[in-house]
Amino acid sequence: MTLRVVILLSGRGSNFQAIAEARLPIEIAAVISNRPNAAGLDYARARGLTAIALDHTEHPDREAFDALLADEIERHRPDLVVLAGYMRILSAAFIARFEGRLLNIHPSLLPMFPGLKTHERALAEGVKIHGCTVHFVTADLDHGPIVIQAAVPVRADDTPGALAARVLAQEHCIYPQAVQWFAEGRLEINHGRVNLKGDPTSQSVLSTGT
Ligand code: GAR
Repeated sequence: MTLRVVILLSGRGSNFQAIAEARLPIEIAAVISNRPNAAGLDYARARGLTAIALDHTEHPDREAFDALLADEIERHRPDLVVLAGYMRILSAAFIARFEGRLLNIHPSLLPMFPGLKTHERALAEGVKIHGCTVHFVTADLDHGPIVIQAAVPVRADDTPGALAARVLAQEHCIYPQAVQWFAEGRLEINHGRVNLKGDPTSQSVLSTGT
């Protein structure tokens, strides 16, 4: 049976695009954005996918908006919900409804640099290795079980923009990979850690960029 996936995004949607173009054993049942003018929605429409705008500014109460969003997601009967640049904090009730089938990508090597402006902060700290993380979403913001990470060396003359672009290229590799593993039923969460079934060392959950 093909895995039904609902994508949530807020903007550009390049991670969604990478997943859509990766020839994965999935069906993208719907793409939903909290921002009606998100470029990701245009791309979804151009691919003939169901594209839905749910404008959060029309629903000032977070709990009420998240309940509406969750109902809309459920209508598409997803096996997996993929946050692809969805730039709103989700309520605990929303996360509880989808826990275990809710993935996020974050532009840092978590648990380092949760939150925003990760590339600026990585440069300010002088770290030599930066990167990105796909993780299961839990109530603990940006701290859920880690599925895969890609490491990106920081260069002496890096700028936030240059570093972000190299990290983004790695995001486009690891997110499709994570979704594929999920679709294959290979991701197992055990005491807050993700085991990759069929890979006793779980070594393949590391990828290195440039
Ligand atoms: C990506 O870099 C993603 O990691 C980040 O937003 C960008 C979305 O780009 N997500 C977060 O910061 C979540 N906390 P995209 O719309 O082109 O995929």
